[in-house]
Amino acid sequence: MDMRIKEHPLLTFERGKKIHFTFNGQKIEAYEGETIAAALHAAGFKVLKRSIIYSRPRGFFCAIGKCASCMMNVNGVPNVKTCVTLVREEMVVESEPGKGKLKIETRPPLSTIQKMQTQIAVIGAGPAGLSAAVTARKYGAQVLVIDENPHAGGQLVKQTHKFFGSSRERAGTRGTQIARELFAEAKDAVLLQASVIGYYKDESHLLVLAREGNLIEVRAEKVIVAVGASEKMLIFEGNDLPGVYGAGAVQTLMNVYGIRPGNDVLMVGAGNVGLIVSYQLLQAQVNVKAVVEAMPFIGGYHVHAAKIRRCGVPIHTSTSILKAVGEEYVTGAVTVSLDENWNPIPKSEKEYDVDTICLAVGLSPSVELFHQAGCSLSYIPELGGNVPAHNENMETTVEGIYAAGDASGIGEANTAMMEGKIAALSCVDALGVSCDEVVEERKELLKEIDSLRSGSFGERARQGKEKVFALWRGFNE
Ligand SMILES: Cc1cc2nc3c(=O)[nH]c(=O)nc-3n(C[C@H](O)[C@H](O)[C@H](O)COP(=O)(O)OP(=O)(O)OC[C@H]3O[C@@H](n4cnc5c(N)ncnc54)[C@H](O)[C@@H]3O)c2cc1C
Ligand code: FES
Repeated sequence: MDMRIKEHPLLTFERGKKIHFTFNGQKIEAYEGETIAAALHAAGFKVLKRSIIYSRPRGFFCAIGKCASCMMNVNGVPNVKTCVTLVREEMVVESEPGKGKLKIETRPPLSTIQKMQTQIAVIGAGPAGLSAAVTARKYGAQVLVIDENPHAGGQLVKQTHKFFGSSRERAGTRGTQIARELFAEAKDAVLLQASVIGYYKDESHLLVLAREGNLIEVRAEKVIVAVGASEKMLIFEGNDLPGVYGAGAVQTLMNVYGIRPGNDVLMVGAGNVGLIVSYQLLQAQVNVKAVVEAMPFIGGYHVHAAKIRRCGVPIHTSTSILKAVGEEYVTGAVTVSLDENWNPIPKSEKEYDVDTICLAVGLSPSVELFHQAGCSLSYIPELGGNVPAHNENMETTVEGIYAAGDASGIGEANTAMMEGKIAALSCVDALGVSCDEVVEERKELLKEIDSLRSGSFGERARQGKEKVFALWRGFNE
């Protein structure tokens, strides 16, 4: 069955040329511009590999290169993240047993390591990274933006709804449009499908990139880490089955590649992300059987909740997922009601006939590169997990390394864009290119971000940021 969306009320999918590749020896049809994992999903393949020890089936979970559950052998190269690797004519893709092995006879020839140099390296081409690049270039700084995905825009490339937030940061515009506008401004400084796999310190900051089988060394005077976040997992029986997807993965499949994630979905989480993605599933003609929310109330905006209720989707609060049903992939889900102490209420189980369980239960900042660079990290629940200690100017505890966007604490695209700009202005300042406009622009942004976080929806982030700023001061005293 072809899972590609034929009609959509908002989106048109311009598919590339029809091509063919093989998966475990079977010929598969795909379109240029699709990733390997997306093309396989469209063709109905949910099981991509097996777990190393117990040989449990594995499908993808994040679809943006963060979790490794889609890694397969591609043209003889093991452990390729197939959710961010574009499919090519006559590619040979194989599920790899165990840890994956590089066969001596297919070992690729050693290539020369390409070397690059820049004043500011920005890791991540999401709203934070792209805004940083546009701002730094405005003041004449040399910038290189690096992103491992085939599309620039980070989370925005799949957000078809009109944004809430600050009018100065494009509220009321669709996320996809914001991504296009930002990319157009920064395009010639962006290197896509290049993954930053290592940070080293020598006389400057040294980043190692992997790009299409080759290594690139980038030396930079300043580094802005704007790598976003990864989706949280919930603990329940069968949570590793293919068909349990993060909400971002579901959005990527539907809104970027025009592929339905399944036919019948149970949504877990009634925050804004769960509610918005439920509506987008309905737009893609996918049946949303119910939304369950463990809290006794709906966390997202009521306007989003009302929209999906009008379409007949029930929202059950004080309810959680108990287990995913299925052997090779999800064939059902069981939910349970919770009492006021969050304990399951006996005999309140309810079974749903679904092929997809979508988890919209929050994000955790991606902090691996900060960790490698020796930045001090602290667990701040208000910001989604471990975050790098930083100050208002987005400086971390390592000289020359700045943080911005979700990687510095979970927020939203508006604050991510502002933080990107602030980090860029701090770099420009530190590079000695400062002028009255830089100082004025940073002052304005700090005022605006403060006012955005002073509303009731920004309160948690404000508290988290205050803790982080205090930690940074502690480290620098
Ligand atoms: C369903 C949904 C709805 C939302 N709605 C809104 C809304 O209405 N309004 C709003 O303001 N916000 C909204 N948000 C939140 C917003 O999308 C995020 O806060 C924002 O995208 C964060 O931006 P960022 O640049 O920090 O990270 P991201 O957008 O996540 O971008 C990070 C980028 O870094 C790249 N990357 C990561 N690691 C590496 C590496 N090692 N090497 C190279 N590249 C790397 C990734 O490929 C990615 O492109 C929503 C989010 C979701 C999921
Ligand atoms: S890394 Fe590919 S699905 Fe997560």
